[in-house]
Amino acid sequence: MTKLIATTAVGLEDIAAQDLRDSFGLPAIAGRNGAVSISLPGPAPRPEVIDAIKTLNYWSRSLNRVGIVLCEGPCPDLDACYQLALSADYSSLIDSDQSFAIRPLRKGHHPFTSIDLGRAVGQAVIDSVSEAKGKRLAVDLDEPEVILRAGLHGDEFSLWLDTSGDMPLHCRSYRKQHHPASLMPSLAYLMLRIANWTGGPLIDPMCGIATIPIEAVLYARGIPPGRFRTGGWAYERLRWLDPSPLPSASAEAEAPSPLVAPGSRLDILGIERFDRHLQGAWLNIAEAGLSDELRIVQGDAADLESVLDDSESYPVAVLNPPYGRRIGSRGQTEILYGRFCQSAQRSGIRRIVVITELLRAMERSLREADYQITAQHPVMYGDLSAVVFVAEQA
Ligand SMILES: C[S@@+](CC[C@H](N)C(=O)[O-])C[C@H]1O[C@@H](n2cnc3c(N)ncnc32)[C@H](O)[C@@H]1O
Repeated sequence: MTKLIATTAVGLEDIAAQDLRDSFGLPAIAGRNGAVSISLPGPAPRPEVIDAIKTLNYWSRSLNRVGIVLCEGPCPDLDACYQLALSADYSSLIDSDQSFAIRPLRKGHHPFTSIDLGRAVGQAVIDSVSEAKGKRLAVDLDEPEVILRAGLHGDEFSLWLDTSGDMPLHCRSYRKQHHPASLMPSLAYLMLRIANWTGGPLIDPMCGIATIPIEAVLYARGIPPGRFRTGGWAYERLRWLDPSPLPSASAEAEAPSPLVAPGSRLDILGIERFDRHLQGAWLNIAEAGLSDELRIVQGDAADLESVLDDSESYPVAVLNPPYGRRIGSRGQTEILYGRFCQSAQRSGIRRIVVITELLRAMERSLREADYQITAQHPVMYGDLSAVVFVAEQA
């Protein structure tokens, strides 16, 4: 049995697991701390496991990384982490002349640092391989051939081999222009899934550099995010795995089908108030080769009627408004939420899926505009604790 770990937005593990089951037919189970697990029969070098690794790295929209679990279990202290890592078998996955690095991630209160964790687990890997093969693995923290990730959440320890790399899958290289408060593309996609969006008219009324609209087109058209990856994947440096970056023919054939028929028109609109973000959105859209697929206009989300003409109707809005931290003040942001929700109601937006940290303000704004909140998904966004609200016109 090989256990894969797929990482995603913390809090949306169940949505990502459902996506992997639906899109790839994989037996994905939601875990905690942003982890989804996939258990496959046989050892890692089996073709089914290799196909799953390549397919997920190339096609998945909701994931940040994909790895192979080497060991996991409760570890109350650093020595327990060392002992568990020492007991894992690295022989079939790492050649003894390859360099490696441990990337530690520690959450919770511990009497040691993440660096201590990395050092202890790194020593365990070196000791284990020395014992099995009589050779000492070289450590290269800058450009390792093999990346191992050591996670310690409270006393839950896991060590896994990263097949994606230091650049997570949510870093899409179509993003040439950045935004101080941009959304992770993987989270944008998960919000589209939460919205049950099936390819119909869609509006993002505060679109920034157009992450949600771009991810919507990729999803609707069945365009793999891997097509935009520069720098490859970590699995290409694993010697036991055929390094070709694309999934094998069978996995490619099983790629998730597009939401819309080829040649059919998409109606996806992004609105952004500020010129510099608008320019960034257009540049990113051009970089993704999607200039003919999307309409991004300058306008005010608090006055949608002045942007939309009478013939236009957008039943679904997916958005990531400001939280009043990096952009604007909290008071102004709360007023914006209220005015946006009122305008959305008048403009016939029936379903709103919105992520925010200002929970009370968004709840109040949605209710005052006669939207009924039908679901709330808590999500950690960096260090921010946010909620994805789903609201339907009452
Ligand atoms: C959190 S950012 C959205 C980021 C976006 N999801 C992305 O990934 O690029 C919120 C955006 O709303 C825009 N905004 C603020 N007030 C607005 C308004 N009244 N109408 C339209 N856009 C507005 C901001 O300029 C900012 O780009």
